[in-house]
Amino acid sequence: MKVALPVISQTELNPSPLSDQPTGPRDIRAVQTLRVSVTDRCNFRCVYCMPEDKLDWTPKASLLTFEEMVTIARAAIAHGIRGFKITGGEPLVRSELPRLIEMLNDLSDDVELSMTTNGVLLVEHAAAIRAAGMGRITISLDSLNPETFGRITRGARIGDVMSGIDAAIDAGFGYPKINCVAMRDINDDEFADFAALTIDREATVRFIEYMPLGRTALGGEYEARFIPESEIRAHIESRFGELVPADPDSGTGPAKVFRIPGAKGRIGFISAMSKPFCETCNRLRLTAEGQLRSCLFDGGEVELRPMLRSANKDTIHDQLHQAFINCVAFKPEVHSYHGNRQMSQIGG
Ligand code: 5AD
Ligand code: SF4
Repeated sequence: MKVALPVISQTELNPSPLSDQPTGPRDIRAVQTLRVSVTDRCNFRCVYCMPEDKLDWTPKASLLTFEEMVTIARAAIAHGIRGFKITGGEPLVRSELPRLIEMLNDLSDDVELSMTTNGVLLVEHAAAIRAAGMGRITISLDSLNPETFGRITRGARIGDVMSGIDAAIDAGFGYPKINCVAMRDINDDEFADFAALTIDREATVRFIEYMPLGRTALGGEYEARFIPESEIRAHIESRFGELVPADPDSGTGPAKVFRIPGAKGRIGFISAMSKPFCETCNRLRLTAEGQLRSCLFDGGEVELRPMLRSANKDTIHDQLHQAFINCVAFKPEVHSYHGNRQMSQIGG
């Protein structure tokens, strides 16, 4: 659903069947992070994210330019947003990404830049993005087993991701956060192995509940693949004993964090399905095509690209300002699960 400013009603922004869930204005200052998708393309084809033969990429002319992203980032900063998370698709396939990172970094002394990546292109780019000012890196890694990893990603090699992790460490990033989407009968025998990574490394491994975002993984119905946090946790605790609460790191995200007693690293859970965290969600999303979205699930979005490309440059800052206010005002109190687009399109 595409909505042009300034005519925005709650119904237009929230067209899902559950849109009579309570929604209402929020304090814009509560939003701290903007996730910026820089491309819908990816060099992987993860089963839950993309069809095998995906070809309908967004044409280049429809992608925001770096300059346009920076204009939007300025408006975000004016609203108190300090965190920018670069996502995709796979962000490192966007050419000249270090240039964008540098531009964002130059906007203010206290911007915090982070990125979620599948890791493979870090071998080439880790040093350059570090030099450009990237702060922290999260790597999506759903299996430690080469065969399973190949099945999930339709052919990517886990060794290449491991080399990417090494490259990130060598470039000075420290051990990247690892995101693992939990899926029954695919990686549900590996949660304790993932957790074990945190014992002698300062790593954070985060388990993400599988979300119904457009595709089902490896033929299984969504309901058959979904695993709740409670079960992931029980699996880990059966090997390592009860997890103890850990302090969240400086970036306030949706994960609840724990430790294996005595471990160096931490274990997080992002449980959007079993325990929706909408109430404390402090992020907005910008798609690669320039839609500002209030929520991953709910349909409300504001089209910024036409605004940026219209002749009226004088009012662009006012228009963007209003767009941020509108977007936050219609952030749902509880999401309604009705995603109809893939993560690579919305920006992970
Ligand atoms: N459910 C949960 N996580 C998903 N991701 C992509 N699609 C889904 C889904 N349907 C994850 C990726 C990555 C992050 C950006 O989002 O694996 O870790
Ligand atoms: Fe690429 Fe991430 Fe989607 Fe996998 S989940 S295909 S790595 S964008």
